[in-house]
Amino acid sequence: MRCYLDMDPGIDDALALAVALKQCDVAGITSVAGNVEGKKTFDNTGRLLKVFGRPDVPVVPGATRPLLLFESIFAEHVHGSSGLDGYPLLGEGVKASSRLPAWQWLAAGLAAESRPVDLIATGPLTNMARFLAGFDNDDYQQRVRAITVMGGSLSGGNVTSTAEFNFFADPDAADLVLGSGWPVRMVGLDVTTLAGMPTSDLARLGQQGRAGEVLEGLLGFYAQALERIGEAVDQIYLHDAVAVAAACHPEKFVWKKAPLRVVREGELRGTVVEVLGQSHGRPLVDVAVDVDREWFLSFVWESLTQYKTG
Ligand code: RIB
Ligand code: CA
Repeated sequence: MRCYLDMDPGIDDALALAVALKQCDVAGITSVAGNVEGKKTFDNTGRLLKVFGRPDVPVVPGATRPLLLFESIFAEHVHGSSGLDGYPLLGEGVKASSRLPAWQWLAAGLAAESRPVDLIATGPLTNMARFLAGFDNDDYQQRVRAITVMGGSLSGGNVTSTAEFNFFADPDAADLVLGSGWPVRMVGLDVTTLAGMPTSDLARLGQQGRAGEVLEGLLGFYAQALERIGEAVDQIYLHDAVAVAAACHPEKFVWKKAPLRVVREGELRGTVVEVLGQSHGRPLVDVAVDVDREWFLSFVWESLTQYKTG
């Protein structure tokens, strides 16, 4: 499955990238400010591609701030100040593959595709919102099979009691994407928290070549952070890799369709609301509500063990 990724590495983005590179034909990546500031997420993406043996994949830096909000929030308390604390990835990343704004570069890439492709977003949806706002016409819609986003939650948040980080960081972008009418799949905390990796698996990760060593260091830091903030104990939430798995194998997930909006401001900022009643005019969004944890973990390991020979 050919896809474009939009990421904010970020440690779970790193694992999602490692999986995507083995499970998909990754046409290119746009980076976005999220877990850490935009320059860092761009540099991190390039460093990770080198670690995973794919410096050939085009990377273009995207939004450095939310669509409308004046202030940015980051998640350095989870991913470290570099965004990839836990393993010293020294050296340069890669050069930007284009000087175009990320959303224009994505549109140009789609225009050159010979068949529909998937978009997978694992950070705040700022780039996706700018793309949809600028290229929301039939020609482009026919070029996109699905937009699978890691974000949101119908069952409790991880920034506030109701808001998930990606949607909290840019609620306006999230609301625009969910209300766009494009084929959007929401992979939120409802399902990502059902598929955690046992921390006891970290040692096995370190046996998967240099890529595995790097991921073991990163996820070790991430696991301690999740425990420190009380988000997870003895398991590691691979939020972004669940979105990759959902894009590759939607048949392995249980979905429900619902018209959704995202609260854009106030104490409920970033909260996903199911819009009831018939007059809402909102399109239906596919929301993942269940996944087989064992299948998911086997999907991840099927990908990661391919780095052993790397
Ligand atoms: O809430 C989890 C999401 O926020 C993940 O994408 C993680 O990388 C952070 O961006
Ligand atoms: Ca992310």
